[in-house]
Amino acid sequence: MRAVVVETPGELEQLKLTQNVEMPTVGENDVLVRIAYAGLNFMEVLIRRGDYLRNPKYPLILGSEASGIVEQVGANVKDFKPGDRVAVLSGDRGCYAEYVCVDETHVVPIPAEMELRTAAAYPLQVLTAWGILFASARIREGDWVLVHACAGGVGLALVQMARIAGCQVIGTTSSEDKAALAREMGCHHVINYTQQDFGREVRKIVPEGVNIICDSVGKVNVIGNLRSIANFGLIVVFGYASGEPKYDEKLLWGRSCGITMNGLYHLVPHRTEFNRAVRETTQWILEGRLNLHIGQEYDLADVQEAHRQLEGRQSQGKLLLRINSELK
Ligand SMILES: NC(=O)c1ccc[n+]([C@@H]2O[C@H](COP(=O)([O-])OP(=O)(O)OC[C@H]3O[C@@H](n4cnc5c(N)ncnc54)[C@H](OP(=O)(O)O)[C@@H]3O)[C@@H](O)[C@H]2O)c1
Repeated sequence: MRAVVVETPGELEQLKLTQNVEMPTVGENDVLVRIAYAGLNFMEVLIRRGDYLRNPKYPLILGSEASGIVEQVGANVKDFKPGDRVAVLSGDRGCYAEYVCVDETHVVPIPAEMELRTAAAYPLQVLTAWGILFASARIREGDWVLVHACAGGVGLALVQMARIAGCQVIGTTSSEDKAALAREMGCHHVINYTQQDFGREVRKIVPEGVNIICDSVGKVNVIGNLRSIANFGLIVVFGYASGEPKYDEKLLWGRSCGITMNGLYHLVPHRTEFNRAVRETTQWILEGRLNLHIGQEYDLADVQEAHRQLEGRQSQGKLLLRINSELK
């Protein structure tokens, strides 16, 4: 099969489209999926560069989510069969390829009305956003929510879901184009952090501070987050695009506020919560309340350009790789 292999971590040229890569072997609990589209995620930039928090083993086929059709299932698999249309989560590897094999708990059924193109943009970012707001932050109607990188993949999902929960949303981003997109997708206030100090701006908008901060940027946001958070608020860290953040306990105490970390793969084994997340989010997508904004599509051969966009903060919404896009 064709796949994008990273032999050793490094720059864009480490993304090598390789022919005749061995097909994955299907274990007893596994589902083999023929991929239509792969979703691109910032974590794949970190993995390609060797900056990912959990050190993966190289060489690896890059790619952490996709949509496609089930090709084969292992002997113990009960919930899926060949021909099913699905989305998959594949951890730190596997989806920039024609086929991927994952444990059945990492396969997400998709409704008949959902196109495979939409389905590839769905599982990782949308379920992460759900976990941040509903499992970690336990968002309540009327909360004020600050979303960093608000025009990105997870960012736009957070903005829309916080609105669905009946909250007021402030976003931060780096350009006017991205700010316009975030507003269009429902963000009540958007701050361009390259022009304004976001901590001060947040306090002008909501003098008592925000109740929840969703932060994937990390290190450079620590001071601004401490300025922005309300007493008893919660900062949810789920990424570190600018480096790992360090919070001084005394400063958190100064507002009786908390900090927590969120990782999608902690939600996956909690099947009741996970199934609720899938049910609610697919429903919102079908109702048109949650719009998965697909910013750009690339052929597998153009994967380096896709990473250049993502790494260089040029991307808006979701980026996709076309693999077997004729699949329906
Ligand atoms: N914890 C989890 O389970 C989990 C799951 C999925 C994703 N994530 C994390 O969530 C974040 C968002 O992921 P995504 O795939 O949706 O990406 P994305 O938000 O579409 O792209 C990354 C964005 O981060 C912002 N950014 C700020 N500082 C940056 C820097 N130094 N370098 C590059 N980008 C920077 C940029 O937006 P602006 O121009 O608006 O600043 C950039 O467009 C990533 O950090 C990812 O690792 C975590």
